Amino acid sequence: MIKNLNYIDEAVYQKEKDLFFDESWILVAHKNELLNNNDFVTFEYYGDKIFVQNFNGTIKSFQNVCLHRFNTIHQEPYGNRVSSCLYHNWTYGKKGNVVGLMCRNSFEKDDINELRLKEYEVGYCGDFIFIKLNNQLDKNLEQYLGNIFTPLEDISKHFGSKTIDYTIEHNVNWKLLVENVLECYHCTSVHENSFAKMGFGSVSPEKFDFYDAHSWCEFPKGESAKQSKIIEKSLSSRTFKPQGYLHFYIYPNAFISSVEGKGFYFGFMLPESPSKTNLRVRYFAPKFDKELSESEQNIIDFINNSSNESLDLVLNEDKKIIENIQSNLVKFKDSSPIFGDEEFRILKFYEYFNGKKELKDI
Ligand code: FES
Ligand SMILES: [Fe+2]
Repeated sequence: MIKNLNYIDEAVYQKEKDLFFDESWILVAHKNELLNNNDFVTFEYYGDKIFVQNFNGTIKSFQNVCLHRFNTIHQEPYGNRVSSCLYHNWTYGKKGNVVGLMCRNSFEKDDINELRLKEYEVGYCGDFIFIKLNNQLDKNLEQYLGNIFTPLEDISKHFGSKTIDYTIEHNVNWKLLVENVLECYHCTSVHENSFAKMGFGSVSPEKFDFYDAHSWCEFPKGESAKQSKIIEKSLSSRTFKPQGYLHFYIYPNAFISSVEGKGFYFGFMLPESPSKTNLRVRYFAPKFDKELSESEQNIIDFINNSSNESLDLVLNEDKKIIENIQSNLVKFKDSSPIFGDEEFRILKFYEYFNGKKELKDI
């Protein structure tokens, strides 16, 4: 049995946060979100506002707070505009420096020239964009991801364009979200009408791999409801066709999954307090190895819409359960959950996580 886990206390939460900041690269975006000059994506990670932006073809990441009087630079979760603060229009360039401001002469020139937004190093795993939170960390992204780097790189190449991007608030500790996605033991009961109908959850996974806290796993397809021939045909020229449901957990913040390469889910976990975690939900269409005709594109749009609806259903089915668990945990602080063989990825995750010396003296 693993040691007692804590989903409640502020002190534990703070230690976990420090650990993430010290040792992590975090997965923040896919290149397809930042294809054009001035495309940007923003997020707030443990209270730090950060943006990633295409500056004339170079992807850069900075603090999303203006150096003048600390307004947020980009207010939206994503979009396309120059990185200028809307309070007094200070505009930032690709070095995080101030490249434009009104009434420049009213400020000390040297002071302005020296200003730089805090910058985060950007790293790539295929088309996935990561940033390094701690610039003292002496691991590059390849070392950080170990043997997960190559399969993650492979899947990244098959993402098409983004179809949705929204956030679901969860009244749960981040660990419950991680535990929930690391097993499909609950799929036949919780997702009876969605996931289980597609044929997943009844067959144990055969292919998987781990590196530190990262892991991937492929769940084979069992008996499923018949798919329409038109849908199968329309998807037949997609570039990626794994046999089952593929799932990646990239420690600490990201979940990537795909049902037979027919579309891609990218979940981004943003903890806010010991009992609150936001889940940013992005979905990407598949890529095709040929140009689609208008009628094929219409069918693909229909498929993407229904995938988005099923994803929303699945996420809300999970949310209901884990919020329920969180509310019970206050009374079960001194008891450990029990994980069995079907929950092997959770055990592997805690084997790494509980072994961290930063968390040992809690
Ligand atoms: S606070 Fe940003 S320009 Fe003034
Ligand atoms: Fe689930």
